[in-house]
Amino acid sequence: MSSKLSTFICQNCGSETSQYFGRCLNCNSWNTIVEEIKSKRDKYQEIKNSKKSIPFNEISSKEISRFTSGFKEFNRVLGGGIVPGSVILLGGEPGIGKSTIVLQSAGKISLNEKVLYVTAEESLEQVKIRWERLNQNSIDLKIFAETNFALIIEEIKRENPSLAIIDSIQAIHNHEMESSPGSVSQVRACSSELQNVAKDKNIALLIIGHVTKDGALAGPKTLEHLVDVVLNFEGDNISSHRLLRSIKNRFGSTFEIGIFEMLEEGLREIKNPSSIFTSKENISGVTTTITNEGSRPFAVDIQALVNKTFYSNSRRTTTGISINRLHQILAVIEKHLGIKLSEFDCYVATGGGFEINDPSSDLGVAISILSSLKNIPPLASSSFIGELGLSGQVRKSKNLRTKIEEAARLGIKNIVVPKLEEDLNNLKNSINIKEVANIKEAFYFSISQ
Ligand code: TYD
Ligand code: MG
Repeated sequence: MSSKLSTFICQNCGSETSQYFGRCLNCNSWNTIVEEIKSKRDKYQEIKNSKKSIPFNEISSKEISRFTSGFKEFNRVLGGGIVPGSVILLGGEPGIGKSTIVLQSAGKISLNEKVLYVTAEESLEQVKIRWERLNQNSIDLKIFAETNFALIIEEIKRENPSLAIIDSIQAIHNHEMESSPGSVSQVRACSSELQNVAKDKNIALLIIGHVTKDGALAGPKTLEHLVDVVLNFEGDNISSHRLLRSIKNRFGSTFEIGIFEMLEEGLREIKNPSSIFTSKENISGVTTTITNEGSRPFAVDIQALVNKTFYSNSRRTTTGISINRLHQILAVIEKHLGIKLSEFDCYVATGGGFEINDPSSDLGVAISILSSLKNIPPLASSSFIGELGLSGQVRKSKNLRTKIEEAARLGIKNIVVPKLEEDLNNLKNSINIKEVANIKEAFYFSISQ
């Protein structure tokens, strides 16, 4: 008793309609809609086997068990480790190091758990060459080089590992579907079937998906609501640093980050990130802020270059902070310090291009702009924390205590912070804490006139 149903799926954005359109109603792209045939399962059978609702109070809560990914940084981003039966999507640009991190991790996990690594992009020999470069040990690690989806599913069921890795979802091909590998329909259909097998057999699944910055390969984006954890592996081609960011996590906090460095022999964890994003030089235009990305505070340099403009419209560019944030900070300086910044070009960059989302970096940005403008280095060995309000006030920052502790640990002598609400007297022995109420006070204290 099975019948066929058609749906029409946009290969650009993944939206679903019941009839064909030449132009997608959601993303407006032309000729991207393809027909997908779904087989409808026997509804009656499903209803007979369905579960019943139970009183909420009768549900017993049990501790989530996890196994280690082999990397402390990776574990932190996952919220402590890999949860059996969970589905993790690891996205990132091609060439960023996704295969490298999962292969290193697979080796380490295989010392305690059974791991199946499915490679649809490389041959067994290529994986072996990479493996030798990584200098790893393994015990219970199996490699399966295949692109045919049906064979991959069979192999996962047969091996029944603790963790199955799919590298990558765009390279596997479900021959029952007409669309080509990597298309939105293929990616979605393969992932949801993989997920059913994983949940059924309690196998943790790590799916790799290539995502470009402009979303050109949008397939994996459409999976984000399906999976339990979405991680993004980021970095640029210039620096060797890589960030593992959690975007969604059903078993832990989001916006946690792990930091790695890509070396000749694979990825190495950076346990002390403050050391790579700061230079400790005291020159004009450079300040240090302590940011909080996820649960861990660390120091990042902020550099500014402020120059008289030669253009009719002054130029403003940023690397690592949002351009809107810069415009707002410039407006606050202009209004509350009476400095006409519209006549100046302003370039701001963070150390190593590290992306800062914590608004408490505002004060560091403002002081580096003022320091470059006046051509005077800020107060030596100091760091700056505080969000700038539109009326020029320095607003309180979250996790201030841990940020001050991090600055003290790094040997920074002064820290400029918003007015304290809690008693931090015990920290005052290790670092000189200057509380400021507004940008004016911070400016006169930090930059000697
Ligand atoms: P890879 O893991 O293949 O990227 P992805 O799977 O995300 O496409 O990594 C490719 C890059 O990493 C490649 O440019 C070479 C570099 N690399 C190293 O620098 N050191 C190493 O040990 C390895 C294995 C790769
Ligand atoms: Mg790869």
